[in-house]
Amino acid sequence: MRAVHFLSFLVLLKVELNSGVWRYNNILEDGNLFTLQNAVFLQYDGSDLVKWEYPESCSVNNKSSPKAIMKCTSTGFKMVKPLVSSPEEEETRSLFITDSYFSFIWYAVIPINSGSTDACFQKLRIWIVDPEQAGPAEISQTALVPSLQSRYVTKHFYNNGQYPMIQMLNSTQKVLGDFQEEGWYWKAAIRGDKEYSNVHISGQPVSFQHRFVIDSQHTFYSVEPEDPNGGREVSLRLAPGYPLSLVWGTCKPYHAVLLSDSGALITKNAFLTSVELKVDPGMFPVPLEGYFTVDQAALLEDGIIFRIDDALYWRDDLDGVLTEHPQLPTSGVKGLYQRTCCVSHYQSQDVELSSLIVWTNNSLLLGPKQLKNLGRSSFLQAALTLSPNATILTASFGSQAPLLAALVMYDSPGAGLRPHLITYNELSPGWVTSTFMTKLKLEDVPQGPFQMLFLESAHASLLLWNEETILYSFHNDNDRGEIRPFNASHISAAAFGSKIHQVSMDHNWNMLVKMENNMLFFCKVGMHEVVLLPQWMEPDSRTVLYLDPKDLFNMVTLTTTGLHVQKYPMTMETKSAMQGSYHDCPFISFKHNMNSVSYHIDKGDKMGLWAEIVYPEGKGVHVKFLSNRNDLLSITQKYFFEGVNSVDTVNMTFLISQEVDYSDATSYTDLVKKTTGIVTLELIPNQIGNTCNLPKTRISNFNVGCPPNRHIRVARPSGMPCEMNSLTNYTIPRSVLRDPSQEDLVVNYDWDEFGCLLETHYKNPFQPTLVLYDGDNFVQDINANFILWEIFGRMDYSFNESMRQVGCLCEAQTWRSLLTPGQILEEAWGPENYRSCFKVVPGKLGNLDVEYEIMNSSSNNFLTFSQVDSAIYVFNVKILDPNLSFCDLRAVFAIRTYGVTIPKHEYITSYTELLLFFVIICILGYSYWRFLKIFRNMMATRRQTFE
Ligand SMILES: *[C@@H]1O[C@H](CO)[C@@H](O)[C@H](O)[C@H]1NC(C)=O
Ligand SMILES: *[C@@H]1O[C@H](CO)[C@@H](O)[C@H](O)[C@H]1NC(C)=O
Ligand SMILES: *[C@@H]1O[C@H](CO)[C@@H](O)[C@H](O)[C@H]1NC(C)=O
Ligand SMILES: *[C@@H]1O[C@H](CO)[C@@H](O)[C@H](O)[C@H]1NC(C)=O
Ligand SMILES: *[C@@H]1O[C@H](CO)[C@@H](O)[C@H](O)[C@H]1NC(C)=O
Repeated sequence: MRAVHFLSFLVLLKVELNSGVWRYNNILEDGNLFTLQNAVFLQYDGSDLVKWEYPESCSVNNKSSPKAIMKCTSTGFKMVKPLVSSPEEEETRSLFITDSYFSFIWYAVIPINSGSTDACFQKLRIWIVDPEQAGPAEISQTALVPSLQSRYVTKHFYNNGQYPMIQMLNSTQKVLGDFQEEGWYWKAAIRGDKEYSNVHISGQPVSFQHRFVIDSQHTFYSVEPEDPNGGREVSLRLAPGYPLSLVWGTCKPYHAVLLSDSGALITKNAFLTSVELKVDPGMFPVPLEGYFTVDQAALLEDGIIFRIDDALYWRDDLDGVLTEHPQLPTSGVKGLYQRTCCVSHYQSQDVELSSLIVWTNNSLLLGPKQLKNLGRSSFLQAALTLSPNATILTASFGSQAPLLAALVMYDSPGAGLRPHLITYNELSPGWVTSTFMTKLKLEDVPQGPFQMLFLESAHASLLLWNEETILYSFHNDNDRGEIRPFNASHISAAAFGSKIHQVSMDHNWNMLVKMENNMLFFCKVGMHEVVLLPQWMEPDSRTVLYLDPKDLFNMVTLTTTGLHVQKYPMTMETKSAMQGSYHDCPFISFKHNMNSVSYHIDKGDKMGLWAEIVYPEGKGVHVKFLSNRNDLLSITQKYFFEGVNSVDTVNMTFLISQEVDYSDATSYTDLVKKTTGIVTLELIPNQIGNTCNLPKTRISNFNVGCPPNRHIRVARPSGMPCEMNSLTNYTIPRSVLRDPSQEDLVVNYDWDEFGCLLETHYKNPFQPTLVLYDGDNFVQDINANFILWEIFGRMDYSFNESMRQVGCLCEAQTWRSLLTPGQILEEAWGPENYRSCFKVVPGKLGNLDVEYEIMNSSSNNFLTFSQVDSAIYVFNVKILDPNLSFCDLRAVFAIRTYGVTIPKHEYITSYTELLLFFVIICILGYSYWRFLKIFRNMMATRRQTFE
């Protein structure tokens, strides 16, 4: 064992002694273009090159040139290395050359002042480039029109039926390009903001010379030039000897600040351009050195926070003056952590998730992504205050958006020097202690300073590192240990004692560990073993890794001549490093269709997902579906297994459903609160390897609650006219108002709010048809109970069915029974207090011969309108069914009846006649009665006379 270690030490030592470093790329620095058709540019940094060594199937234009161009005629791994005159050998790389039918690329540009007057749209020009024939302006991405060669290619493709489809990264809508004969390119207008757009361009399966166009992603930036310095500005630097430090905007990763010991740089276009970041010292005296020495920075949306000598200072974007902001602590600040991934897709109700953690020795504060935040009492709010014997070592945001964590050490005799990890949930505030590190022997507990990074996961998963080693704890601490290279006790030992500089991850599960001497290690996120990659940069160059908005790693190098940015061909480098090694992948392929970062689940929704894994027989591979909470959704799984020729395929399907019955809830509001929230689900294979290809999405957030923009509309019945802007006001007679004490009511008709006026004959019964929409997208017709009320208080309408007719088993709810004095209508009745009348309530039958006021598209209960007057009604409708949706679904519609033939005066005349007739009858009746009385009296008098 010792011999092996010694050997590996020797091997490592040899690498260390290397004087040169070599790199390669293709003309467009595009990982897809290492193909037979495209040349590989080899570059050796050193003065002792003898010649390049390469396989026979490749040719090099000038073997002895440090900048040579290689082309290969067959596919596969090509062993390439420079032979040098010094005794040490250079590293050999195995470059994987493919034969791709896809070797043309889309070129896209947004010309500045493209004549677009519409601020919402940007005009895009798109054409096709043959990378090998690209013009210099096309290579440098500055071309505004196609080169001669590209025109030729583009025209041919166009004639063969090719056209680009453009999709904004954050939307599903596709825009088609429109070919411009005069310009030899396609034009397309994309919606989006001027500052940044990220589009995906795909084409048709159309070839030219048997070659196709590769789908690609393009980013565009428009940067306002920084205000020129006024001469007072002072530089900002890290303390001498510190490695570069990079921070980027949480939701604008193309905004970044690079701190170095020779100055700070700021970019607003992912390092396409950058300028020196300086501050106006304002009230502060300029330090003797002539610059401010900063420890850390955080890039907010309205300015930059600097940590200088344990105090926080503010540089506002508007004036660039360094100030002591009243909202920022002026002492004791030990660290800052800025959220690295935007969480705007995580739609939690009324809580803005924090973007910044600030900690002192024993308190932890949280802040949003803007300092000048209206509606928030103070920028930083305390989340944790510990006793003075505690020290916060580091802090970070957690595996799910609302979580964060701090590593805390208690200084007490019994506790030993063991840090504790405590986690916090911003949506249900409270701290929980994790088991992380509790199982470690005290002597194995690493020493700080620490940095911490959580992986996106349904179960807390984190990396914690100091200068030498990385500890991991995956899936709620069920899998823990140390990330190690092969044959070395820890990462630093495999890098000649160099310190860990950066731990960086892309969104495709790739992780790079960069050492201060620029050695790189790679692993798939979730693996325990890192692979040493070939040296890309000289050990002494000042370099950082930067993940750009296209999810590609860039090497940003600061030299005396300025900032240099190169694409780092990570896929090729990792392939080369693992070629012929024992690294492999336990499965052949893994894919799933959970490809959206968030889903919305309303009441009763069901959603199917599948995940398919293909693996060599007997590997025991399966798919894990993890969830961070099991109470909101029910998930049923099914397996479909197939084994063919020693290859097993498992397709797992998951039915995700929301199944809660909200009817007759004792407290509807509490039940809704308890059954809404966000569930994070994660789909991963149970085993992975460093060479695996993994799908881009690993987790999705299932938002159980009211989907955004969900609403109902009242559909216009076919054939029913709908009138627009035909009146400004109308009068409702007091006799038909709910509140009879009122005057006649003059209503100003609000066309924007009430919409058009549906016209119907007064004798026609009417039932509104309700339709569910998400934004402008139709979801479904609604077949659920609803109620309505006239918003101006008209009462001259009724329902044509009684409770008995609809089949009630007890007296149904009515407005009259539910309204309590002083209550407004919309609050009196709704899903929260709805009780069905189709259930027997013992001992309570009530009067069923009353109008039933609840409607449903499947019932025959219709509205009937005033039979004595043509009228305008404006109704509010509201869904009553407690199981339809989490949303408060309401809509307004207006209806005007016509066709009442008896004009009012005629009606009154006939009424008067009736009254007259009645009076006459009365008079006649009275006369008759009088006559009878008189007659009787007469008779009686006469009888008395005779007796
Ligand atoms: C090849 O490269 C070497 C070194 O840069 C240079 O001296 C030589 O002139 C080149 N040869 C040709 C044929 O270009
Ligand atoms: C996409 O992003 C652009 C620019 O940030 C924004 O204007 C647009 O509203 C977004 N679209 C969607 C569907 O989110
Ligand atoms: C820290 O100090 C407080 C008193 O100041 C004490 O109650 C507490 O037990 C101490 N905590 C630990 C972990 O020693
Ligand atoms: C897995 O099964 C589901 C449901 O049967 C199906 O829709 C899906 O296409 C299958 N996946 C693959 C990769 O065949
Ligand atoms: C109703 O509208 C008519 C015609 O537009 C207008 O002349 C009248 O003043 C309005 N009445 C009231 C009370 O607003």
